[in-house]
Amino acid sequence: MSTGKQAAGEAAAELVESGMRLGLGTGSTVAFFLDALAARRLDVAGVPTSEATAARCRELGIRLLDIDETTELDLAVDGADELDQRLQLIKGGGGALLREKVVASLAVRFVVIATVDKLVDRLGASFPLPVEVVPFARRPVHHRLQQRGFEVVERHGDAGPYRTDNGNAILDARFPGGVQDPTVLDIELARMPGVADHGLFVDLATDALLGDDRGGVQQLTNESTIDLST
Ligand code: 5RP
Repeated sequence: MSTGKQAAGEAAAELVESGMRLGLGTGSTVAFFLDALAARRLDVAGVPTSEATAARCRELGIRLLDIDETTELDLAVDGADELDQRLQLIKGGGGALLREKVVASLAVRFVVIATVDKLVDRLGASFPLPVEVVPFARRPVHHRLQQRGFEVVERHGDAGPYRTDNGNAILDARFPGGVQDPTVLDIELARMPGVADHGLFVDLATDALLGDDRGGVQQLTNESTIDLST
């Protein structure tokens, strides 16, 4: 599995050019991207989407950019928990979804890096949708999601209820059969009082690099699939 993640991460690092302002995602696939990026020793700076990514960038010597210092990024690179052929995503398995979505929204190009097995016909049929909720609204949102037909589990860490870098809770919400219409659910969740954000990324990704366990990489865009290994 890590071969596919590494292949995707390394392919994404090849897209970076000196002078670029980057969005730096979160997760184990992004870790390979950061390693490959650091090895290229380019003059770049990036907005990290989590404290963990910021810490890793400091270790690797990748220059960090404060989000207040920019209104546009040239390229954002991030992982995903699931994606479909239209490049709609479920993210937030690592709990960084809110900052990830803000950073992705600033990018001219947003490239998803993942393994091929994360490409699904319907989002949410196997991976639950993370919903980030301000602590005060944890119970009301939990209840509302249940009423809407979701099976909801509050995320826990080793030391009790999980908290994001923003101090919020995560409710992992599973809808039997998966998400029928990501666009409709995106709007519905965004309108729910107390929801800070959710893991559906609709119309944000421009392309995806999908690594396989032989080290090959396919590029997926809205229009086509290109095998980069041939
Ligand atoms: C973090 C995320 C990650 O990008 C997602 O969970 C994929 O992680 P990994 O690359 O470790 O499989 O959304 O919030």
